[in-house]
Amino acid sequence: MSSNIDLVIFGARGDLARRKLLPALFQLHKAGLLADSVRIAAVAREALDTAGFIADTLKLLKGENVDNDFDEKAWQGFSRRLTYIKIDFAQKKEFLALKDWIVEKRTLIYYLATPPSLFGSISRHLHDANCVDATSRIVLEKPIGHDLKSSGQVNGAVGEYFSERNIYRIDHYLGKETVQNLLALRFANRMINSQWDNSCIDHVQITAAETVGIEGRWSYYDKVGQLRDMVQNHLLQLLCMVAMEPPSSLQADEIRAEKVKLLRALRPICDDNVADHAVRGQYSAGWVEGSPVVGYMEEEGSESDSSDNETYVALKVHVDNWRWAGVPFYLRTGKRMREKVTQVVIVYKDNPHSLFPETEGEANNKLVIRLQPNEGIQLEMVSKKQSLKERLSTEKRTLNLDFFDSSGESRIADAYERLFLEVIKGDQWLFVSRDEIEASWRWCDELLATWKDKKIGTKSYSAGSWGPSKAEMLIENDDRSWYQA
Ligand code: BG6
Repeated sequence: MSSNIDLVIFGARGDLARRKLLPALFQLHKAGLLADSVRIAAVAREALDTAGFIADTLKLLKGENVDNDFDEKAWQGFSRRLTYIKIDFAQKKEFLALKDWIVEKRTLIYYLATPPSLFGSISRHLHDANCVDATSRIVLEKPIGHDLKSSGQVNGAVGEYFSERNIYRIDHYLGKETVQNLLALRFANRMINSQWDNSCIDHVQITAAETVGIEGRWSYYDKVGQLRDMVQNHLLQLLCMVAMEPPSSLQADEIRAEKVKLLRALRPICDDNVADHAVRGQYSAGWVEGSPVVGYMEEEGSESDSSDNETYVALKVHVDNWRWAGVPFYLRTGKRMREKVTQVVIVYKDNPHSLFPETEGEANNKLVIRLQPNEGIQLEMVSKKQSLKERLSTEKRTLNLDFFDSSGESRIADAYERLFLEVIKGDQWLFVSRDEIEASWRWCDELLATWKDKKIGTKSYSAGSWGPSKAEMLIENDDRSWYQA
């Protein structure tokens, strides 16, 4: 357990800190995973003192959505770690208040849960107030930029004061247990990894469907859209975990280098292929989980009646290397979909010759890796029907590996708990390097530019459906279909 660490959370009164960061730190404290000496400074511009912040955090953590099993004794210990420091991030001299809190010879971790437009100036003010030394680390939340150029500016501005070794860029999907499990599944199982290529696999599907809409975030989301919000980061990271070459070890540099190679091998989606490789959608009013919901253009905060922003994306992606030549990766992600589900489905090739006509056509083995909810792995197979009446007839069966049941834990840790632990340890394996960010932006920028140049608009889909019918065609034109459990 790393001691000698102090944590500073900028944006401590914001939504992310309240929903994710403070609950995650409390869970780590409860589990005995934070060294006793770790102190936490909550920094925000709101006029508040430490007592007020502690009282509010107590209310927050007791809230039934966060911790059903509130532990009073653990809370007493946790609250002693907390200090509130009021800083207006735009005022350089206010950073001196933080300097007063800092104790020499301790490693500082600055967590910036603030808009990315502030990353550069906060880094500079920290440096100018003598709050940064060669051991200080900085954690950046997504989005890092809006495109390749702006991500370079953000990274450059932070990089003036923090070395790449000390910059931790969050993609919270990498903190999910089940995403890390992809590494174990692929590289610890000979049976799986020996068949993980174009000789055995027909295609791969990656789905990240959400039932939520934009959750009151119109001003953010309308400038961003689903490609930047979900594909540039989470879906491409998932694709990397599924498709990258085996790293030579689990060291951060090795894993990240393989991910960069994979991102650079993505075939561009541009003028020549955009028509049958990409679909943009936008939800209209409909029903989700039994309740009526409005369409995107009627969402709270909507300002314009001409928004052409996408809330859904489906893509056919090719990885141009030896392993994956000829194996398409179908990616889809959307808001206000029928179900919340994030999963990877590996669809194996059919047998070269069929002996079992009753299961022909549907007999392809499928490996379904369910990331959320009901985390687990299923292998769809064909087996003999138990029957004396029939000679040898077959049926589809499923082998189940339930991640939760087998873990022996009473809960699956939230992604942010794992990510805090890794940054405290100083291990970057679950964080995104600058090269990865740039490679993924480069690829997304080309698609975004193509959509813009060719004036490709969004197709409407009803909230509560699986997306626009054009997305069905994207895969059905290849004689395949989206996986339905
Ligand atoms: C965030 C996006 O990064 O991920 C949100 O900004 C999205 O729009 C969220 O809802 C999804 O995360 P999860 O963990 O619920 O799949």
